[in-house]
Amino acid sequence: MTKRVFSGMRPTGRLHLGHLAGALSNWVKLQDEHHCFYCIVDWHALMSEYADSSSIRGNCKEVLLDWLGAGLDPEKSTIFLQSHVMEHAELHLAFSMITPLGWLERNPTYKEQIVNMQNRDLGNYAFLGYPVLQAADILLYKADLVPVGEDQSAHLELSREIARRFNNFFGDIFPEPKTLLTKTPKVPGTDGRKMSKSYGNAINIADSPEAVWDKLRTMMTDPARERRKDPGEPEKCPVWDIHKVFNPDEAQKAELAEGCRNAGIGCIECKKALNAHLMEILEPIQKRRKYYEDHGDQVMEVLRKGAGEARKTARETMEEVINAIGFVER
Ligand code: TRP
Ligand code: SF4
Repeated sequence: MTKRVFSGMRPTGRLHLGHLAGALSNWVKLQDEHHCFYCIVDWHALMSEYADSSSIRGNCKEVLLDWLGAGLDPEKSTIFLQSHVMEHAELHLAFSMITPLGWLERNPTYKEQIVNMQNRDLGNYAFLGYPVLQAADILLYKADLVPVGEDQSAHLELSREIARRFNNFFGDIFPEPKTLLTKTPKVPGTDGRKMSKSYGNAINIADSPEAVWDKLRTMMTDPARERRKDPGEPEKCPVWDIHKVFNPDEAQKAELAEGCRNAGIGCIECKKALNAHLMEILEPIQKRRKYYEDHGDQVMEVLRKGAGEARKTARETMEEVINAIGFVER
């Protein structure tokens, strides 16, 4: 049965191979089975970027181009910006009335972020309520399934708790959204750590062929292979982790692994093989991305259409909410 899917991403700027292997490829597949709402959550970005919001607009556009390039299809899915649908703010307000402070103060992600982002003052009122806005995002569309990584599990549990609490006070309105746990394959960056924009080790979806090769060429390998004649162990090599995710040619992988272990090949040969597979994957993505980049009016049209579709569902839900609370009908 087709279900309603909702997921969101903060506009952090250009997306990388980690996003592609994790969230995006999964989101693209879901489009064929379900009605999907994919939302760029710009209000969530403002919670941490309010002191300098100048990058949010550009970042939204980059993320949207990467989404469209990767194959999120505005004909199949509802693709939109959170700030374009005011009902997110309205439902957030309603939920903020019924969410106990203790639930938010106990949220492990909140505690972590405060410690990890020492360069930002996150002591603001709204940041504590991050999961309340996230619950509003999801429940506004009565989503059945929310595809997210493990790091979002606590937030999703809070969404369910908020739905239950609202239903207890005001009557059965919200279904409890299920977490659709996304398998996130290990994609290390050029320095061997997890690929991440903040580590500066990412290969971006929109990187030119020259840039991709430059990053791969200088990427860390099995440290035991100092010289060409030293045998290596693929299982200790971050380049190999990327082969596992993006190289579908099993016979070639077996040959390369053998060549690595007996020093029959050099790392450059192994990296060139990987580069060819990455190019094959990225070429159609970048072609689509470039098309939208050159047709800014169509990108704006995607957002208009998406916001229009989202608003329709959002308004229906808000009307139920207003009536359930017992405000004067509008
Ligand atoms: N909190 C999510 C993240 O940091 C982004 C997000 C906001 C989200 N609202 C959502 C994800 C609703 C899923 C559903 O990645
Ligand atoms: Fe890594 Fe390939 Fe070099 Fe082996 S040959 S160390 S798998 S890059």
